[in-house]
Amino acid sequence: MKFGYKIIFSLQCIGLSLVGASSFTNTTDYKVFPEFRLEDVKKLPIISCSDDSQCPDYSRGCTYDYEIDIGVCDMDFFCNKINGCVSILESFDSANSPNLIIDSYQTVKDDKNKNLPKCKSNSDCFTNQCSEGICLVDDSDPIYNCVVAELGVHQSHINCALASNQICYDDLDCISNQCFDVCEDNYYNHNSGDNISSQSFAKAIIYFLLILSLVLN
Ligand SMILES: *[C@@H]1O[C@H](CO)[C@@H](O)[C@H](O)[C@H]1NC(C)=O
Ligand SMILES: *[C@@H]1O[C@H](CO)[C@@H](O)[C@H](O)[C@H]1NC(C)=O
Repeated sequence: MKFGYKIIFSLQCIGLSLVGASSFTNTTDYKVFPEFRLEDVKKLPIISCSDDSQCPDYSRGCTYDYEIDIGVCDMDFFCNKINGCVSILESFDSANSPNLIIDSYQTVKDDKNKNLPKCKSNSDCFTNQCSEGICLVDDSDPIYNCVVAELGVHQSHINCALASNQICYDDLDCISNQCFDVCEDNYYNHNSGDNISSQSFAKAIIYFLLILSLVLN
């Protein structure tokens, strides 16, 4: 028991000393919070809204559900220990952001997205690991994705889980809710051209999978 506690404690010390090392700076496409950790993102308030102007500058804007007549300020954060957290705005285009590459892969051969910019140095990668132009996952410092989990001011909360291609053990480890040794692509990213109805469709699929997994258990 005592030994296990010591290991966890020293791991936390290493993690803490890495926080704040971020080299990224704010742009119109993303906001950087080097001091933030997952716990800080989870504590952010859920803000109700009827239009974008009511949302903070780190929000993706107001996501309005006309069926239940409720809007919340949408958020999409990525966090790890070395860089803290970054909030991705609606205008962020992963294919056009060579200075902040969030997509990362287990090996250089896994990169299936040919549109992604190539990294030139470690500091281009949110994982801080660039190899042959590809950002590699750091298994000792995985990337977490935090999103507003449900629409509705009272039901909503911020849900954080592993981003795509990070090592996982269980579907619930992943923000996509799909673990096949690594987390599958998640539904919330790379869909800036999509609108609310297709997002709801993705959410419906996630709920379906959740219910299915409960039934099968
Ligand atoms: C980026 O912008 C946010 C929100 O305005 C601010 O809180 C944060 O400190 C800024 N980060 C940096 C690194 O300047
Ligand atoms: C929103 O998505 C639906 C379903 O994919 C599509 O039929 C509709 O044209 C889209 N609307 C806009 C404004 O893109």
